[in-house]
Amino acid sequence: MDEIRKKFSRPLKVLVIEDNVIDQKILESMLTEPPAIASFLKIAGKLSEGIKLVNEFPFEIAILDLNLPDSQGIETITVFSRHALDLAIVVNTGVYEDDLGLETLKHGAQDFLIKSKYNSYVLNKVLHYCLERKQRERDLVNAYHELKEAQQHLIDSEKFKIVGRLAGGVAHEVKNPLATISYGITYLQQNLKTPDSNQLKVMENIKEAADRADKIVNDLLDFSSLDQFQKTPASIQSVIRKAISLVQYQLDEKQIQLIEIFTDDHDRVMIDKNRIGQVVINLILNAAHAVPPHGEIQISTHLSAWPDLGLPGSWGKPDLFASGEKIVVIRIEDNGVGIPENVLDKIFEPFFTSRRAAGGTGLGLSICRNIMEHHEAGIKIFNRPEGGVCAALCFRALSQAQEDEYAAKKDLNH
Ligand SMILES: Nc1ncnc2c1ncn2[C@@H]1O[C@H](COP(=O)(O)OP(=O)(O)OP(=O)(O)O)[C@@H](O)[C@H]1O
Ligand SMILES: [Mg+2]
Repeated sequence: MDEIRKKFSRPLKVLVIEDNVIDQKILESMLTEPPAIASFLKIAGKLSEGIKLVNEFPFEIAILDLNLPDSQGIETITVFSRHALDLAIVVNTGVYEDDLGLETLKHGAQDFLIKSKYNSYVLNKVLHYCLERKQRERDLVNAYHELKEAQQHLIDSEKFKIVGRLAGGVAHEVKNPLATISYGITYLQQNLKTPDSNQLKVMENIKEAADRADKIVNDLLDFSSLDQFQKTPASIQSVIRKAISLVQYQLDEKQIQLIEIFTDDHDRVMIDKNRIGQVVINLILNAAHAVPPHGEIQISTHLSAWPDLGLPGSWGKPDLFASGEKIVVIRIEDNGVGIPENVLDKIFEPFFTSRRAAGGTGLGLSICRNIMEHHEAGIKIFNRPEGGVCAALCFRALSQAQEDEYAAKKDLNH
């Protein structure tokens, strides 16, 4: 009870927009005479002045007269609420304007008062109720967005499952004929007695095309074989180090500088080491493709608590982890070309690639996302303000108790 009383007696930052000098004085005395309702008060005589003040000061609530020198009637609230999206608004209407007052609620006001029909007690109560109502409105809007995001996520993962199944089936069918072509061409290259330069070129082209098709088929098979996971306790840093050693050649070829920032934080997680290694490799290679020769890639890990992982944007699912849970975060950052804003929401789609000519299949990131989903872990990719891209992964940290439990179970099975 005391909590509520305290909340409702907290002084507020108030903006009054009112042109009538007597009404201004009445409101000013109600708001400032002890016990003061307002801790901060500004009064504007025109709508335009009020809008200017909104941009200059951090008000919580505005008391708005509808008939001002530069705006009258319902127009006043529609214009003002557009400029003060985050402000609670109480309309201050003339006597016998009940209908108009009610109408304002549809246009962004949280409540209305009728002039000369309230005292400072009522005013205080109405202002605090309005603030509460505005907060509920915000919560509702946030919940709606989260729900939309979760719904989209569900649709996407259903889509991915179907594509995965289809792709897996097709890939199996294609693999054998492709192997025949590949072996056939190698056989011809080795056994044709005196091929001319055209024949050599044609054979080389066929071999290249077959290799490329083989990469696509392998990616597709990867994409569809999502239930074969072997999760064990592992150090994320050792997984990253192994991944780096596997792509070192490509990095050296482009003389890319790799910066590793691994903290001494606890970094044990429950993962399929090969699969997560595959995710890290995909992300490093994406970064390597995006940076210029002599470019820079930085890989860092740190331990955080959900949901404040120190990264912008959402992870798709707000309830990925419980609040306060310890999370291991990996960031793979590059100083490359970045991702155009208009394709950012497409990069996880299967077959989306901006590198088709350079041999990209566009399956890398959709495979990464699927693997991460199977770990109930998060992945997100965003443009860094300073240029380039940051790809971030997050996993639930493994506690010592969980690790002991795993070891005990393993012992039992042996
Ligand atoms: N670090 C990055 N910098 C710039 N663009 C990126 C980066 N990472 C991903 N992208 C964009 O996202 C697209 C999709 O990436 P994805 O890894 O799925 O496919 P890909 O790299 O094109 O092909 P592959 O299937 O061979 O990996 C890329 O083609 C590129 O446009
Ligand atoms: Mg890729």
